[in-house]
Amino acid sequence: MGKTITSKVTWVGKVDWELRRFHGNEYSTWKGSTYNSYLIRDEKVALIDTVYRPFAEEFVKGLREEIDLSDIDYIVANHGEIDHSGALPELMKHIPHTPVYCTANGMKSLKGHYHGDWNFVTVKTGDTLDLGETKLRFVEAPMLHWPDSMFCYLSGENILFSNDAFGQHYATEALFNDLVDQGELWTEAMKYYANILTPFSRLVTKKIEEVLDLDLPLDMICPSHGVIWREDPAQIVKAYLGWADAYKEDQISVVYDSMWGATSSMALAIAQGILDEDPRVTVKLMNASLEDKNDIITEIFRSKTVLLGSPTVNRGLLHSVAALLEMIKGLGFKGKNAATFGSYGWGSESPGKMGKALGDAGFTVPLEGLKAQWMPDERALSECRDYGRAVARLNNG
Ligand code: FEO
Repeated sequence: MGKTITSKVTWVGKVDWELRRFHGNEYSTWKGSTYNSYLIRDEKVALIDTVYRPFAEEFVKGLREEIDLSDIDYIVANHGEIDHSGALPELMKHIPHTPVYCTANGMKSLKGHYHGDWNFVTVKTGDTLDLGETKLRFVEAPMLHWPDSMFCYLSGENILFSNDAFGQHYATEALFNDLVDQGELWTEAMKYYANILTPFSRLVTKKIEEVLDLDLPLDMICPSHGVIWREDPAQIVKAYLGWADAYKEDQISVVYDSMWGATSSMALAIAQGILDEDPRVTVKLMNASLEDKNDIITEIFRSKTVLLGSPTVNRGLLHSVAALLEMIKGLGFKGKNAATFGSYGWGSESPGKMGKALGDAGFTVPLEGLKAQWMPDERALSECRDYGRAVARLNNG
């Protein structure tokens, strides 16, 4: 079961090849995921995190093949969410008195989930745990991404166990970042940041600066999902600093939904206008009812400018676009432009409503939303192309 990371550290997690939905239905995991658990064997033995609840029995069985459970001196729970703590109740049946190291908020979330009266030891930033030749140093990381989140650093081995941070929902048996398809790895790492960590970007920057200020040697970052950053671990730290800083590429995303094709023909004409004005900008068109919502969010994350389109239906928006707006509102993107458009028959509220929602969500929305009545004719399509040209100028402004 275990896979060697160093002479003292063994991966004892679970690769979940079949996972396609995570956080209920909130996150698509086209490449599955892994739940990484790590066993540190020094003079003392520590287990860092466990796995998702459905794999609890399999996890404990595998762990028993690796070590006599009674030889585990400490359990470290970096985070209470059930994809990492889900096997704790099963494990604690076998070693009920083993101390569980976590933050004060970690104790609350673990008690809240499992109602177990375990031997909790709460730790704060700077606290350490001697394992022999190595030592664990704890770093609280509140709201990255739960109040209970924590990192720990293993001196001697120079490993940062970063829990969710620097993770990817990416199933692989390869274990290390230099052994996998780089396109897949970075796609999943960015999607993970865009959809989960964007709201906490300010805290991401602060926490990374805090850890860098400690000036600790760093040979590896071992997150709790996906691959271990062994080759140039600083590259994912650098990427996070960039992603946390109002990240954008020279990209315009046109996201829309359509009932009978009027709004989609507007989208195409607007895209044409954008490219007429600026042939070098990347333009991506996405139908919100057909594309995966997390993939759309990742494209919005990459964009400097976002166009949102919906016809007016019952004085409002099509629900695919409305749902996307709810996600956008929660994620709190920074430094992006937006514009809106939509067809209508009689009421024409949707572009105004989308513009207001995007403005409230922190986007800059300087252009009035574009409307086209019924099916756009040549004149309306020409207006769409003009609108696209104006959006391209805005994007370059
Ligand atoms: Fe926040 Fe991977 O759990």
